[in-house]
Amino acid sequence: MKELENKRVLITGASSGIGKALAIELLKNQNELILISRHKAKTEQYIQEIFQEETRAFIYECDVRFKEKVHETYEKIKKETGVPDVAILNAGVGREMSLTHFNSAIAEEIFQTNFLGLVYFTEQLLPDFIKTGKGILVGVSSLADNRGFPRSGLYTASKAAVSIFLESLRAEGKIKGVKIITIKPGFVETALTAQNNWPMPFLMPAERAAKIIINGIAKEKRVIRFPLPTAILSRIIGAMPGRFYEFVASKF
Ligand SMILES: NC(=O)c1ccc[n+]([C@@H]2O[C@H](COP(=O)([O-])OP(=O)(O)OC[C@H]3O[C@@H](n4cnc5c(N)ncnc54)[C@H](OP(=O)(O)O)[C@@H]3O)[C@@H](O)[C@H]2O)c1
Repeated sequence: MKELENKRVLITGASSGIGKALAIELLKNQNELILISRHKAKTEQYIQEIFQEETRAFIYECDVRFKEKVHETYEKIKKETGVPDVAILNAGVGREMSLTHFNSAIAEEIFQTNFLGLVYFTEQLLPDFIKTGKGILVGVSSLADNRGFPRSGLYTASKAAVSIFLESLRAEGKIKGVKIITIKPGFVETALTAQNNWPMPFLMPAERAAKIIINGIAKEKRVIRFPLPTAILSRIIGAMPGRFYEFVASKF
């Protein structure tokens, strides 16, 4: 497995789950971290417990749904630590939505966090990445970005938006020296999946997911899909004709 070393890495959604596992793994290799979430104390607590004072982690509180807040936080980050080499835009929420309890407020929360939150940070980072002619922007999407899964329509739609947005940036980024990477995880054991009451094939620990993601970023892969069996399953589901897919999906 390749590692990231001596980099300044910004992570949103660093207080739990995949973001937390990434932070812990990256801190083992002399990276300097900028850790962002709405609950600073949660991040401070695990950093203190695992690393005591001997680490370079700068912790910020920011709700990514608010553009002004993202702008203010990024300005503060630049003053206090500097422009990151790598930004992993990972903050996200998942909520179920059924036909019988439809509520557009859920759409607002999911899109503001999963899509617009990522767009707001991208807006801050891109000018600096273009100026320096380097910088790696990593966005966390999902293997569930390719179909409308029952009861997860809003979540999967937000991830489809993330994937398409990053793909379009990647094409342009090449010319400006900015690398854009899309992460597409299958099921990972976190607070987000703890609320799911359906079978989650090939569910993996967040620590394992973090190692795969870091290896992929270090190799500058374009798209990081894992685990392999879920990636294959996602391809098969994606290729199903509409009627057949709807028949199969309705059984779940
Ligand atoms: N777990 C999976 O199976 C899976 C699969 C595919 C993709 N993903 C994606 O992976 C990413 C991380 O999810 P996870 O599974 O690690 O879930 P998680 O444990 O619930 O972590 C989500 C993180 O996002 C942060 N966050 C949520 N809303 C935020 C907001 N408005 N502003 C700032 N931070 C916010 C949370 O921190 P605070 O609450 O402290 O703000 C938390 O640190 C998400 O984008 C998710 O969609 C997960």
